[in-house]
Amino acid sequence: MKNSFRKKPLALLLDEMKGEHRLHRVLGPVALTSLGVGAIIGTGIFVLIGVAAHDKAGPAVMLSFALAGLACVFAALCYAEFASMAPVAGSAYTYAYATLGELFAWIIGWDLILEYAVASATVAHGWSHYFQDFIGIFGYHMPALLARAPLDFDPDTGLLSTTGAFFDLPAVLIALAVTVVLVKGIRESARFNTAMVIVKVAIVLLVIVLGAMYVNPANWQPFAPFGYSGFSMFGKTILGETGPAGAPVGVLAGAAMIFFAYIGFDSVSTHAEEARNPQRDVPIGLIASLIICTVLYIAVAAVITGMIPYDRINIDAPVSDAFRQVGLGWAQFLVSLGAITGITSVLLVMMLSQPRVFLAMARDGLLPKSFFGAIHERYRTPWKSTILTGLFVALLGAFLPLRLLAELVNIGTLFAFVIVCTAVLIMRRTHPEAERPFRAPLVPFVPVAGILTCLLLMFSLPAENWWRLIVWLAIGFCIYFFYGRHHSILTKHQE
Ligand code: ALA
Repeated sequence: MKNSFRKKPLALLLDEMKGEHRLHRVLGPVALTSLGVGAIIGTGIFVLIGVAAHDKAGPAVMLSFALAGLACVFAALCYAEFASMAPVAGSAYTYAYATLGELFAWIIGWDLILEYAVASATVAHGWSHYFQDFIGIFGYHMPALLARAPLDFDPDTGLLSTTGAFFDLPAVLIALAVTVVLVKGIRESARFNTAMVIVKVAIVLLVIVLGAMYVNPANWQPFAPFGYSGFSMFGKTILGETGPAGAPVGVLAGAAMIFFAYIGFDSVSTHAEEARNPQRDVPIGLIASLIICTVLYIAVAAVITGMIPYDRINIDAPVSDAFRQVGLGWAQFLVSLGAITGITSVLLVMMLSQPRVFLAMARDGLLPKSFFGAIHERYRTPWKSTILTGLFVALLGAFLPLRLLAELVNIGTLFAFVIVCTAVLIMRRTHPEAERPFRAPLVPFVPVAGILTCLLLMFSLPAENWWRLIVWLAIGFCIYFFYGRHHSILTKHQE
């Protein structure tokens, strides 16, 4: 059992960076920030804002965005400190290995699969819907049998139902197409991402500027129709009101839901090994991408809730529908295009990050190195695990009721943030002398505030997510005890 808490020495981490089989160092601060923005702006702002405003927070969804953004800023400062200390590929997984020990590291690595691979599957599913909406504008439709997953999940009753379809073909196709780009190389992926980021940011700016002309301030009243709180513990609402399905409502509950919109900024830290000057540029990429998106999100939330009364906001395509409701059909077309582009870049960056976490785990022996550690001779990408991730995302996106999995993504990511904030506190105590090119300000306030705000959001999610997270972690636990513990390179170092 003692072995499970052994830590990976910081010196060993830094030593490994000098070895063979490194990834290409090609990313500068702009490419890293653009990867962050690429991973962040997508389903959250184009889709989830609708349910959050309509059912959870009303116009006060602006505050929900601000609160979720604040939790992420605290976490981002902690990520940035770690990323500058140990600029290797594993992100939170590596930080946990150096501070909390191997078992925690494994748990976080396992948990990050929820954040990256399961989130990608959710996002591929969302892409399919927007794509079908978009081709619908031109009168084309997918055959019903290939238009959606065969199973659906009703969050109100908790029951599964069949949809009559075979599988979701567009979700499979986009997952496979993105996989091909990712195997080709980091430079190609980053370029492709930058182009998409330019398109989607331009369209988000258009939404803000054009939408602002149609704002009627009367729509912001009442400002918080569901109240300002919405805090529950394992299914019992402690503060605030309860919605029709028993889940909490209010600004906090809205924040827990639209937290999804911010997921992805931390993926910048998984590219530390591909950064030209990681100590300086990874913190810049993390913080700049998060601040840009927070500002854009609050502005979009203000505009959409100002354009139409919150109870008339569409749940499936809230942003484009708001323009339809004010009579701007052409803008609806552009917004759909922005959503498809935006969601594609989220997929690209998320699916880029997952194999890099696997790579770090394989180097440590916690996953089979011959597969997860394999770097392509020519493209210098972790190609085998990239293809595996692509197949996993395609399969989940094709067949599963993703609403069920999507909620898991938020709780899993919040959990990772709590661990990273904790790890910063521990590292400051155990290694006060270590070189920290970027230091999180106001320690211990920032990490402690990060832990508390993330826990607050975790408790504002519907209770079943906790059980799903626990089951997922228990499966990971078993794999560690049967495989990782015996194959860890630290075991070999001890022998
Ligand atoms: N933040 C990403 C999105 O909203 C996951 O799609």
